Amino acid sequence: MLQRVSILLLSIFAQILIADRSFYIDYANNQFVRDGKPFRYISGSIHYFRTLPDQWEERLKAIRAAGLNAIQTYIPWNFHETFEGNYNFDGQKNFTRFFEIAGQNDLAVIVRPGPYICGEWENGGLPYWLIKNPAVKLRSSETNYLTAALKWWGTILPMLKPQLWNNGGPIIMTQLENEYGSYGCDKAYKNALRDKAVSLLGNDAVLFTTDPPEAIECGKTEGVFATVDFGERGLLLADEYFAIQRLANNKSGPLVNSEYYPVKQMISMMYEKGASFNFYMFHGGTNFQWWNGAEYAAGLITSYDYLAPMTEAGGSTDKYDVVRDFIGTLSNWDNKPLNKPKDPEMFSQQGVALQKMGNLHDYYNLLITQTNVSETPISFEDGTLSPNYHPHRVSTLLLPSVSPGDELELIVENQGRLTWETTIDHKGLIGNSMMINDQKMSGVRDLWNNTWKVSTINLDNILSAVQQPSNNMFVPGDVFIGTLSLSDASKDTYIDLSNWGKGFVYGKLF
Ligand SMILES: *[C@@H]1O[C@H](CO)[C@@H](O)[C@H](O)[C@H]1NC(C)=O
Ligand SMILES: *[C@@H]1O[C@H](CO)[C@@H](O)[C@H](O)[C@H]1NC(C)=O
Ligand SMILES: *[C@@H]1O[C@H](CO)[C@@H](O)[C@H](O)[C@H]1NC(C)=O
Ligand SMILES: *[C@@H]1O[C@H](CO)[C@@H](O)[C@H](O)[C@H]1NC(C)=O
Repeated sequence: MLQRVSILLLSIFAQILIADRSFYIDYANNQFVRDGKPFRYISGSIHYFRTLPDQWEERLKAIRAAGLNAIQTYIPWNFHETFEGNYNFDGQKNFTRFFEIAGQNDLAVIVRPGPYICGEWENGGLPYWLIKNPAVKLRSSETNYLTAALKWWGTILPMLKPQLWNNGGPIIMTQLENEYGSYGCDKAYKNALRDKAVSLLGNDAVLFTTDPPEAIECGKTEGVFATVDFGERGLLLADEYFAIQRLANNKSGPLVNSEYYPVKQMISMMYEKGASFNFYMFHGGTNFQWWNGAEYAAGLITSYDYLAPMTEAGGSTDKYDVVRDFIGTLSNWDNKPLNKPKDPEMFSQQGVALQKMGNLHDYYNLLITQTNVSETPISFEDGTLSPNYHPHRVSTLLLPSVSPGDELELIVENQGRLTWETTIDHKGLIGNSMMINDQKMSGVRDLWNNTWKVSTINLDNILSAVQQPSNNMFVPGDVFIGTLSLSDASKDTYIDLSNWGKGFVYGKLF
């Protein structure tokens, strides 16, 4: 009997707890309402995919200590479905765990699950395999793309649902696409994303869009809360920008700047205007492996430090102090700043000797996993070229005098796919535009008998491939090895490559 009473009480208690948790937009009063009280956020962007999972907790605690009450992150599709149909949500890809840690540290989560994210990330977050099909039109309601995008959302939105605020988790808002109005105006696409989100997350999930003020017309979506993003321009124009945002929301709703750049003199202004805002980035982190995106001018670098309030290594800067001190002065703020955490400890080791271990050529038999023979070069995506492709880099190579039978070898390096100029970025030699002595090479087998052998070099095998040291003169493609002893595995370090040229660093624990 007693037992039954306590069970009954427990279940009533649980119901009250959940009923108490609510997050919605009170348009009439221009505010968010959380758990029955007016709510606003000062949020910081931090990307789980640019921070190692062992450091998530430390980083999030440092963000909480500055007094922020929310974080914002993208979810890059290609990080989780790198190869079609092969999903991965383990380790660094376990955003569920990242959100849980945020929630445990009083940080609400604003999630931006794409499908396109930009984010200076490889291909703006879209998987490379989408462009195998020349008919595909990315970021649109074209069937091939939309089917794949909705399938992806069908996989992740059910994972996000239990983490929504109303369901007991930390997620307060979910973004559709990213700055879409700067790219296109396909309403059917945006509406399909909205409908999918509503059907999988529920009617009560708060959905939003983000656009620069001048692009909001094409970015906003019927029935979805429209926000703006702006940086320094806001010093003069914030009122105008927020007026544009209000107008896009039927002249009502809270003011939100979703990507505010941490200009110190703007923080108090943003706050005084009553806005909720998000620092892009609060902790930038690192583009590990080949996940950096590119712009026409160049590939983007490995560091995503972003001159953010927290450094790439997780330490604090004077911007961190400005934010923390400012929030400390707010009387009406629940997440009061906590003690400032110590910067992560680092160790250094000088004079690590590097031994030359031959050249990539020496290891082709171990590194090349696939070779195709073709009359024209085959791009990485498999050779099918989109009619929309415009080569953006034209180079001429002067060959020394050659004799019949000589072979020309070209190594094409993927320096990252474009993040926003175009999302159709094939990698490799693009057959239709290759010329020798100003004559097109495609399909001209009769003239030079040119068959192309196209191989994938899998650098991931390099550490097991290297064999004998060699002392030849340096040539491009050389491989070097050195050993660094981790004197204290609890401390971090980095490799200073400022005296090196271009290359890749692979690490392996022994
Ligand atoms: C993600 O992390 C949670 C714990 O936070 C765990 O329950 C879950 O199994 C993890 N998922 C994967 C795919 O590893
Ligand atoms: C604005 O109002 C119109 C008409 O009432 C409605 O259809 C639309 O969804 C509203 N817009 C937003 C962003 O809520
Ligand atoms: C290249 O070869 C692989 C296996 O040998 C094959 O699966 C693939 O379809 C080929 N690609 C092209 C474009 O011929
Ligand atoms: C081209 O190839 C054909 C047969 O594959 C051969 O008979 C011919 O001699 C070759 N031409 C040149 C210029 O190498």
